[in-house]
Amino acid sequence: MALSYPATTSDYRRLAQRRLPRFLFDYIDGGAGMEQTLAANLADFANLRLRQRVLVDVDHVDTRATLAGTECTLPLALAPVGLAGMMARRGEAQAVRAAHAAGVPFTLSTVGICPLDEVAAAAGAPFWFQLYMIRDREAVLALLQRAWGVGCRTLVFTVDLPIPGMRHRDTRNGIGAHGLRTSLLRASQLLPRARWLWNVGLRGKPLRFGCLTEQVPGARDLEGFWAWVNAQFDASVTWRDIAWLRERWKGRLLLKGILDAEDARAALDVGADGIVVSNHGGRQLDAAASSISKLPTIAQAVGAQVEVLMDGGVRSGTDVFKALASGARGVLIGRPWVWALAGAGAPGLRALLATFQRELKLTMTMAGVTRVADIGAQHLDG
Ligand SMILES: Cc1cc2nc3c(=O)[nH]c(=O)nc-3n(C[C@H](O)[C@H](O)[C@H](O)COP(=O)(O)O)c2cc1C
Repeated sequence: MALSYPATTSDYRRLAQRRLPRFLFDYIDGGAGMEQTLAANLADFANLRLRQRVLVDVDHVDTRATLAGTECTLPLALAPVGLAGMMARRGEAQAVRAAHAAGVPFTLSTVGICPLDEVAAAAGAPFWFQLYMIRDREAVLALLQRAWGVGCRTLVFTVDLPIPGMRHRDTRNGIGAHGLRTSLLRASQLLPRARWLWNVGLRGKPLRFGCLTEQVPGARDLEGFWAWVNAQFDASVTWRDIAWLRERWKGRLLLKGILDAEDARAALDVGADGIVVSNHGGRQLDAAASSISKLPTIAQAVGAQVEVLMDGGVRSGTDVFKALASGARGVLIGRPWVWALAGAGAPGLRALLATFQRELKLTMTMAGVTRVADIGAQHLDG
């Protein structure tokens, strides 16, 4: 069935599935292990019920919010997603433009395709930068300096990836493998996707990790970059390293990948400005709890002392409302923005963000609340 007028996140997912080579679609879509945490992220949102209220004056509903010092048209930011420039031509540059046109923050991943200055040129306003702790601390400092130099003032520091999770779909697609079998498999997935080959594979070059070209000068292709990145994941990182980082980053620091109240309190102690309650979209520890189920206890543990954001399973403006009612100040979305961009380009992403905003406004109206700051547990039914 043709999707002339995609309306929902799952419509964009289907469009992306049609346009992308299988190994790229699976890379976005999949999670770790049996994908149980990925499923729980969605199911636990679906199981939340809201209270419908009537005869409240909801003539002026305002969805605006401020997240990490950035004013937004709704309390939502685009999450860092690696390799977005493989999903659409110069994907990160397109996405930052669409996000800023819609009035929401964009986060550039360490392993994005477009380099910091290309994204800065497209952005026209400060964007957020995501970093992992890599073994080479000089490289960390160099990256921080470059991000600061192009105007980034919010650092999203990801702490839930001491090693990459086991993503079986990637294994089945031969990601990380070499040899004839992989080449044949790759060719069989690429050939039916001529449009992607032309638009992204050819016209989207250079396809390398744009932020890391100075760190990995010898890398000829993405495989070369992956080898470096995989060797650089540092599993020895502790809170002391975060204290080291805190001393060196003068902007706002958000720790992403917190899923436990004790860790949230430690983030507070180390001087983080905010946390992102997250299980990396179910891509790391399969069997970890869903983000939305952990949110209330974590938010309660840290109170108003740090800004609590969350991600994992947010698929609509109604989900944004549910996250706020469960204790978050705002949300990040990962897969939805990449599906929209891959499936329908920048206009698709702009349309999706507009839909999220309309859904949030409608939900607020029906719940009888006019300001996002007033959304709370009292709006949940049960
Ligand atoms: C394809 C893909 C790549 C990702 N790459 C990164 C990354 O480079 N850095 C990071 O901190 N998180 C990364 N994430 C996790 C997202 O930032 C976010 O936590 C997750 O997608 C939220 O779940 P959702 O996809 O259900 O919205 C990635 C997620 C996906 C789906």
